[in-house]
Amino acid sequence: MKQNTHEIQTVAVIGCGFIGYSWGIVFARAGLRVHMYNRKSPTLDSVKDRMREGLTFLAEEKVIEPEEVEAAINRVQTFDDLKAAVKDADYIQECMWEDLPLKQRIFRELTELTDPSVPIGSSCSGLMISDITSQVTNGKERCVVAHPTNPPHLIPFMEISGDKASPQIKDRVFHFMESVGQKPIQCREVYGYVLNRLQLSLIQEALYLVKEGICDVPAVDQALTDGLGLRWAFTGPYGVEELNSAGLGEGLEKYKDYMIEFFTEHQQKVLDYDQDFVENCVRQFRPVMNGMDHKEYLLWRDRMVTRARKLKE
Ligand SMILES: NC(=O)c1ccc[n+]([C@@H]2O[C@H](COP(=O)([O-])OP(=O)(O)OC[C@H]3O[C@@H](n4cnc5c(N)ncnc54)[C@H](O)[C@@H]3O)[C@@H](O)[C@H]2O)c1
Repeated sequence: MKQNTHEIQTVAVIGCGFIGYSWGIVFARAGLRVHMYNRKSPTLDSVKDRMREGLTFLAEEKVIEPEEVEAAINRVQTFDDLKAAVKDADYIQECMWEDLPLKQRIFRELTELTDPSVPIGSSCSGLMISDITSQVTNGKERCVVAHPTNPPHLIPFMEISGDKASPQIKDRVFHFMESVGQKPIQCREVYGYVLNRLQLSLIQEALYLVKEGICDVPAVDQALTDGLGLRWAFTGPYGVEELNSAGLGEGLEKYKDYMIEFFTEHQQKVLDYDQDFVENCVRQFRPVMNGMDHKEYLLWRDRMVTRARKLKE
């Protein structure tokens, strides 16, 4: 991890669900004090235990030392009072449900409750920060999208955007995220940002292939896990074009007609699907899980991702 040169010592995580608990691990691992906020709920009651489980997994995979587990947990405090949670915070990571009115309300409150120097990042997956901050009267420039890949304590890619945010704040969040081990990019505001736009394009085709009976669900997943995915962990689509011919420039020229023809004549849009289709996909997917239930499949995925990351590093 790079040095945290931005004097962020305390982070408030707003929302303790799937993404919040995982962000909590990222920040606690990096040696920061972490304030975990949620309304009173079993989610809040269990968050430290879930974080301990996540950290123990990292120790088992030898990503961290065993003694780091309790040391990190000792830096975590839970709150059901928003004002108390954000008092003393130097950075805020919002992780509430993907619901525009809820995020608008929480951003209004967060900008009113905190010092103007505190950057506020939203984990939101598709919404635009300009819409989220539309009711903020003072402090839009310190609000950004800080969208992680699930789960951020295992997968480091994240996106920072906000056309109304100041460039200084975006740079500060960028460097802070690097200092806690994330691999951020910056992009302009667009629905879905970069990762989800790429992912949704692929899911669109995955749905089309199964819906039209061209192949089954396991075949689609296998095209990624035994094919594209093996390359993509190391070379992205542009890297693939570089290596598919004598170089990227030549590749983009050589395959231009083929790609344009595909985009215009052969690419279909799936605009709807019904319950039967969903049930059929679920049935076809079962064998892909190799006898594992959902929880076991998740743990297996986490283990494989962690090992692949080690190989990359
Ligand atoms: N799950 C993913 O794969 C993923 C990936 C990247 C980003 N995100 C984004 O992260 C954000 C959080 O998603 P998640 O999957 O963690 O959701 P989640 O449902 O697991 O967690 C949301 C949390 O917000 C809390 N909450 C909701 N309303 C509240 C309120 N009024 N007051 C206090 N607490 C409240 C809920 O109790 C819950 O703990 C969303 O914006 C989502 O789009 C999710």
